[in-house]
Amino acid sequence: MKTVTIPLALFEKNRLRLAHSLKSHSLAILHSNDEMNRSGDQYYPYRQDSDLFYLCGIEQEKSILLLAPDHPDETLHEVLFIRKPDRKLETWEGHKYTLEEARAISGIRTVKYENEFDAVMAALLMYTENVYLNLPELPKFIPELPNRNLRLAHELKLKFPAHKYERLAPLMRDLRTLKSDEEVALIREACHITRDAFLRVLKTVKPGIMEYEVEAEITYEFVRKGARGHAYQPIIASGINACALHYNANSKACADGDLLLMDFGSEYANYAADCTRTIPVNGSFSPRQRDLYNAVLNVFRFACSQMKPGNSINKLHAEVCRRFSQEHIKLGLYTAEDLASQDKENPLYQQYYMHGTSHFLGLDVHDVGSKDVEFRPGMVLTCEPGIYIPAEKTGIRIESNILITHDGNVDLMKDIPLEVADIVGYMSNQ
Ligand code: GLY
Ligand code: MN
Repeated sequence: MKTVTIPLALFEKNRLRLAHSLKSHSLAILHSNDEMNRSGDQYYPYRQDSDLFYLCGIEQEKSILLLAPDHPDETLHEVLFIRKPDRKLETWEGHKYTLEEARAISGIRTVKYENEFDAVMAALLMYTENVYLNLPELPKFIPELPNRNLRLAHELKLKFPAHKYERLAPLMRDLRTLKSDEEVALIREACHITRDAFLRVLKTVKPGIMEYEVEAEITYEFVRKGARGHAYQPIIASGINACALHYNANSKACADGDLLLMDFGSEYANYAADCTRTIPVNGSFSPRQRDLYNAVLNVFRFACSQMKPGNSINKLHAEVCRRFSQEHIKLGLYTAEDLASQDKENPLYQQYYMHGTSHFLGLDVHDVGSKDVEFRPGMVLTCEPGIYIPAEKTGIRIESNILITHDGNVDLMKDIPLEVADIVGYMSNQ
């Protein structure tokens, strides 16, 4: 798999920004993700913790980053710990970072092996008042088994109960929601690779093709273009399968006359793209499918036009839901009278549009960021309205990735075909 070299200036800048947001006499501790065992000596593919990666670019397991920006010993302002390479480990798993390599990737001068961690911690804690711990905070995503950050936080609090402990997550969230130019360039590349995969799919799809064959075409294009693979489990959903929002069995045949919803995005240098396109399996939309598709496209265009400084995910979503109510009436899903007398607790639009319109995008596909924070230049979000009508065996979603700018936004996926005529045109040229 291609390794992408990211200029270390990005990680240095990120550490500096974090250092500015810490209280004085602080120590921030970030652990890498655990390796997740599948069975025996087999592990699920390793993916670095996004916060640790953001601050030092280190992709190796069992790494630890300590930041103590105003410690009297300047060599301890930034300390990175890595596993000590050993012959047996490298015989099985291949090369592990040397100290010099880890320095070159991260720009951190003080890189040590993990066996020195306790001694360095002792020296740092002497001068530390606040210890920032990087713990998961959203209750529904707190892992059932404590991760490395949680386990070592418990240990530390037992050994050093008199220190003050602080939350790192809100600081990381605020830093990561604003993307620098280097990050936007990496997201753009993830989007370009995603576009290439979609163009490939447009040449391949025809009645009878299996959903997993479409997935395989996408995977092939991702990997050959230098992406690590998918940024998330791809959703390749034909016909009624598209009404299950996170369907990813991808196991059915695509039938003549059905639509095919594909929600897929490459992961490039750990940055995600998140695209959804919906196409007719046989290359042409029926009149009803075209009306449904254009209704979603209208709302998509409207939503994109509202993604500008000052708006927020929650405000955008409320406006989009109001727009959808009008489109639903035009499509005959309910009447204006039904709308006027709807139960406000269970609005009618929710029967056909039951997910959010937008989320932040970056190192994670559902990247950190609050739904109430005002959009600012440098934020990258998705725009993803959809319509789901099980009675018509149809689900349609259109999703692109939007960079907020001073005067509006840039659609990072504007070269991924969207209009009915473009999709039909590409498919007829198979
Ligand atoms: N790409 C899947 C989602 O946004 O939920
Ligand atoms: Mn999405």
